[in-house]
Amino acid sequence: MHAVPPLEQDTVDVTVDASPAQAASQKPAHAPGQAANDAPVRDLRRVGIHPDYWYPLAWSHEVKRGKTHGVTFAGDPIVLARTESGKVFALEDRCAHRQVPLHQGVVDGESIRCGYHGWTYDCSGKCVDVPYLGRERLPNGVRSYPCREIEGLIFVFPGDAALAEQRPLPDLASVSDKKYKTRRFGRPVNCHYSFMHENLMDMNHQFLHRKQMGQMRARSLGRRRGEGWVEVDYTFARMAGQQPIGEAIVFGQSRKTGGDNDKDVMTIRTEYPYQTLQIRTSEQTLVMNLWIIYVPLDREQRTNRTFGLLSIRKPGIPGVLNLAWPLLVWFTERIFKEDREIVEAEQRAHDSQGADWNHEVFPVINDLRALLRENGAPDQVVGAGTGDTAVIRFWDSRRGSPLAKS
Ligand code: FES
Ligand SMILES: [Fe+2]
Repeated sequence: MHAVPPLEQDTVDVTVDASPAQAASQKPAHAPGQAANDAPVRDLRRVGIHPDYWYPLAWSHEVKRGKTHGVTFAGDPIVLARTESGKVFALEDRCAHRQVPLHQGVVDGESIRCGYHGWTYDCSGKCVDVPYLGRERLPNGVRSYPCREIEGLIFVFPGDAALAEQRPLPDLASVSDKKYKTRRFGRPVNCHYSFMHENLMDMNHQFLHRKQMGQMRARSLGRRRGEGWVEVDYTFARMAGQQPIGEAIVFGQSRKTGGDNDKDVMTIRTEYPYQTLQIRTSEQTLVMNLWIIYVPLDREQRTNRTFGLLSIRKPGIPGVLNLAWPLLVWFTERIFKEDREIVEAEQRAHDSQGADWNHEVFPVINDLRALLRENGAPDQVVGAGTGDTAVIRFWDSRRGSPLAKS
């Protein structure tokens, strides 16, 4: 367990991150993207996600027995394969021979056979057969990735494989706990992963969801920080109107109109690179547990695939949650759609402005931004592909060029 520092109160700090327009009018001592001490600040939207973590790249059901499945992590093509015995493994999605994608090949027993000349690779990426060559003259194979399957997700470790064992997989205990029912959801979203983290952690955007949730006000109770994580607690108060039923299923039914709430506390935590949203009652019962991750798809990390596991504690009366489930699905889809549209708008604004003009005033979000910057890939800059952006491959220097391997 982490040591938990005391709560820091969220007083609003308005002295941060002036936009270029504001900078001109206010004549600040430092330029946007530049700290007061003149140290350059990395544009968060150009910070690559750190590859030395476990990332889900597919749902288990997407990788069928005896089949291949092509995915990407930050532009790197990866093939997932489920062998005849049901085991899943992950390799570079290229044949060492003519570089065609291995996902176009076939699973042959416990190996993948390329669809072109039939070169065959085992789960370690070793080439184990070239049909027209003697076994003693087999060429080098392709890179393999550490791969684990838990709770219906296929996790891959895309970074330095030597670090995989010591890096823990995320805790998904609520998913297998019979006291909870879990909804799996997610889809591609056209934005940098940092916008997703900010969106979920900043509950001051309830206004966006006013049609779904009515008038709600979040009150931050304070925030905590530690090595690799930041979290914030909120309570909610309904300012007007009745609680919509979809929201009641997700968030519980005890909130009253007006004043502060029933003392349920929502805690949102980014523990790099994952995020959780948990609601606990005053008796400390965990009634909702969302685990979520935003996996960059393209090399410039302008798109991500979201994988979410939303676990709801079953109420005392059996079957009630099952009956209400379609409503919960509908409600969460609507909320997700509103969030998706707004973060994609943020990404478009960043791309057209060419820099981060955000004027962030909420302290926990500034903490979060610092956390994502500090824990991102240290020597990788991603961007919109414009001339001023160098795209540097984080792990090329560690593994050598692909050509050197075949
Ligand atoms: S390209 Fe794969 S076997 Fe030739
Ligand atoms: Fe939202």
